Amino acid sequence: MPEPPLPVAAIIPAAGSGLRLGGGIPKALRLLHGTSLLDRSILALDAHPAITRIVIAAPPASAPQIRMDLPACRAEVTVVNGGTSRQASVFAALAAVPDECAIVLVHDAARPLVPLDLVGRVIDAVAAGATAVVPGLPVADTVKEVDEGGYVVRTLPRAQLRAIQTPQGFRREVLLAAHAEGGPPATDDAALVERIGERVLVVAGDPAAMKITTPEDLDRAGLLVAQQGAR
Ligand code: CTP
Ligand code: MG
Repeated sequence: MPEPPLPVAAIIPAAGSGLRLGGGIPKALRLLHGTSLLDRSILALDAHPAITRIVIAAPPASAPQIRMDLPACRAEVTVVNGGTSRQASVFAALAAVPDECAIVLVHDAARPLVPLDLVGRVIDAVAAGATAVVPGLPVADTVKEVDEGGYVVRTLPRAQLRAIQTPQGFRREVLLAAHAEGGPPATDDAALVERIGERVLVVAGDPAAMKITTPEDLDRAGLLVAQQGAR
């Protein structure tokens, strides 16, 4: 008999204001072919049978509305107030993850088109024993470090670089320890885990898990949805 799957919780940081996208409403509530980025992210995670809990970190002013308008899900969905940084939002959501969820994913609301097989790849790698797992894509451009005066400090070896996406997956206790450690702000959760000396495994990412940051990204995501048959 195969082992029953470990219960997995998914945290969705969705509390950002989306200044670079603009539009005057929180980015997570912006629509893509009629469905909000947040709802698309919720449904993308709910499609994976191992995910039993979804915790959304919402902009505090929008939390009551988001709670009322949640899409129908198989997983139990809770909404907490996010914080003033992504890190603070994830930390707030982590407090609402039940103890029985040994694996925790963190997935940006701003990546609404994440494919199910990518979610599965991350969960499978943690379930197989990795402490922390992130999806990564090879980098096409040459990446250089630049100083404040605009001069190149160094050119990074491209073959070893990866552009890192979400969902990122963790053993719950490791993510808790990493967030409890605090320190300078980090732009993803894996960076906090690296800081406490844990190894982070990179699995193959997917271009469809692109992050929507600018209006051009939203346009590009709209084209992707149209190509996939306007879901
Ligand atoms: N996020 C969050 N809480 C914050 C800031 C960001 O939960 N205080 C979330 C965003 O909602 C998003 C993800 O973290 O799903 C990635 O952040 P980003 O793409 O930077 O979104 P915003 O912060 O909303 O955008 P901007 O930086 O352009 O304002
Ligand atoms: Mg931001």
